[in-house]
Amino acid sequence: NLIMKSAQTIGVLVPNLGNPFFSMFIKGVQSASRQRQFIPLIFGANHDEKLESYYLQELIKRAVDGLIIASASITGEAIDNILKKNGIPYLLIDQNGGPSMDGVRIDDDRGGQLAAQHLLAFGHRRIAVVMPQNATQNLRIRLAGFRQALAQAQVTLTDSDIILSPMTKLGGYQATAAVLKQHPTAVFAINDETALGLMRGFHERGIRVPQDISVLGYDDIDLDEYVVPRLSSVHQPVVTMGEQATELLINRIHNRRQAAQVVALPVDFRQRESTGPVK
Ligand code: RIB
Repeated sequence: NLIMKSAQTIGVLVPNLGNPFFSMFIKGVQSASRQRQFIPLIFGANHDEKLESYYLQELIKRAVDGLIIASASITGEAIDNILKKNGIPYLLIDQNGGPSMDGVRIDDDRGGQLAAQHLLAFGHRRIAVVMPQNATQNLRIRLAGFRQALAQAQVTLTDSDIILSPMTKLGGYQATAAVLKQHPTAVFAINDETALGLMRGFHERGIRVPQDISVLGYDDIDLDEYVVPRLSSVHQPVVTMGEQATELLINRIHNRRQAAQVVALPVDFRQRESTGPVK
């Protein structure tokens, strides 16, 4: 049957196509879409709000059946004015749309705790964090988990221990000096791209990882295995996230009235070479 009732398309908006985390997410979206005979239209919003609402509008004009929005800069306004107004099913990644929304939840609280416990076990107590300003909800939960596990060991993070910088390789690289100013023995980068940028910055200054400073990332992207030293990180099941988000959205497209569905996914720790004992 070549004629379908709808075009069977979903729109997918991610913040940054250059981050392997999102390539893996899309891999999951593609495979689940394919199984259910949907076609995803994928856009990278480049952390740009204008571009993002442009793509949203265009996707809606082209009558997509639903949307997956993994873009951090989506505003509540855009959600109300563009999505809700048009009655299009959508699913948000990295932010909680509220109890009436379908969602894929990653245990960021535990992820943050695992990160802190790992650094504490190596004896670190002077720790810096690099993360973006206006962090999405998942990142705030990640930080809260990290903080809480540190607090259990009587380690407190002050505001100046948290360096605000865009969540990209360049953002990490440019945060190097601010991190060093805090004289930490370890740095927790809120994602791997940030960690890679920091490692470059440390290398250029002759600072050795992990002998002089431990660097811990988050996401477990493929590059972690290929940089020197290999990057320790918290693994997120991102392909599964993409698959599950797609499943939930397509279920919603087929059944607008069913109760909200939430899929919870675990994280786990991957120790590699970029973290080590305090000297
Ligand atoms: O690297 C991308 C980051 O943005 C991930 O940590 C993910 O959780 C998202 O928030």
